[in-house]
Amino acid sequence: MERRKLGSRLEVSAIGLGCMGFSHAYGAPTERSEAVRAIRAAHDMGYTFFDTAECYVGQNPDGSASFNEELVGEAVRGIREHVQIATKFGVRHEGRQLVVNSRPEEIRRAVEGSLKRLGTDYIDLYYQHRTDPDVPAEEVAGTVADLIREGKVLAWGISEADEDTVRRAHAVCPLACVQNRYSMMARWHESLFPVLEELGIGFVAFSPLANGVLSGAYKASDTFAADDYRGAMPQYGADAHEANARLLSFLNELAAEKEATPAQISLAWMLAKKPYIVPIPGSRKLSRLEENAGAADVALSAAEAASIDFALDTMGMSAVFGGSPRKE
Ligand SMILES: NC(=O)c1ccc[n+]([C@@H]2O[C@H](COP(=O)([O-])OP(=O)(O)OC[C@H]3O[C@@H](n4cnc5c(N)ncnc54)[C@H](OP(=O)(O)O)[C@@H]3O)[C@@H](O)[C@H]2O)c1
Repeated sequence: MERRKLGSRLEVSAIGLGCMGFSHAYGAPTERSEAVRAIRAAHDMGYTFFDTAECYVGQNPDGSASFNEELVGEAVRGIREHVQIATKFGVRHEGRQLVVNSRPEEIRRAVEGSLKRLGTDYIDLYYQHRTDPDVPAEEVAGTVADLIREGKVLAWGISEADEDTVRRAHAVCPLACVQNRYSMMARWHESLFPVLEELGIGFVAFSPLANGVLSGAYKASDTFAADDYRGAMPQYGADAHEANARLLSFLNELAAEKEATPAQISLAWMLAKKPYIVPIPGSRKLSRLEENAGAADVALSAAEAASIDFALDTMGMSAVFGGSPRKE
């Protein structure tokens, strides 16, 4: 698979694997050996960039915890130097609410736990999962700079960061990337692109398929388990199927033209827009891991991506989890 640079040093596969769904937010966790096999198979398909977080923890049917970092760590044993592991600190879940804490002592506690669960002595990319209103960006950056000096972390980023946070954090400890929600249905962070270009920072796109909707694989009649977050997402809501019908038919037309699938077009579109964008779609199914990886081979020019933008600008669509398509 094509490689992309995030910041000045970190190089990753153009499409990374979002591992969250193996144990968090999409219903019951995948059985451990099956998840490990899938992540390992993804590496064989060309993915080298694996995204996880301290707080991606689910409950197995027997009541035990499924720690996402452990799955990733086990899957990359023996190939550690050929992969890039991204994990995150600073968030814990209380039900579905996120509680933030990026105090220096908390970051130090978190990094030791992540290293242990991952079974490694360094983290390629360490993110602040959400900004913390009680801890200045400079203080977070200073703490991570210490971890980099100690060799525990190679590069860092911030998730759901705005321009002010990016500038202040980057001035203390250069960022490799930001990781924000981004898809054809969630484009409000495009306003950050000029800032990233000015500072030489990459952009990792989470939920790049709008949690699966942009694949076109879901029907209005689909239902989700109570512990599957999709059941409460507006893009899967009662009226969403109809609201997104035009978008899906547009995607199907493009897919037919390019002999690709709607999911591949969704990912290829953002790859074509900027050389520093790296989507991290998540799937627990081997065929979809393969399909999503194939997006890196779909030839879409910057001009074609721009004409897709033009069409999206005026297309009605439902709200998406985390925001509305019209939000700036
Ligand atoms: N920084 C943050 O705050 C944050 C927040 C959310 C997510 N993330 C990261 O971003 C990664 C991806 O985000 P996400 O899971 O929210 O959204 P996503 O990648 O847009 O969508 C994942 C969902 O789409 C389905 N899917 C994936 N590929 C498909 C395909 N080709 N055809 C049909 N369905 C497909 C998956 O189901 P199956 O498993 O059944 O295929 C899964 O339910 C996560 O794994 C996580 O690492 C980060």
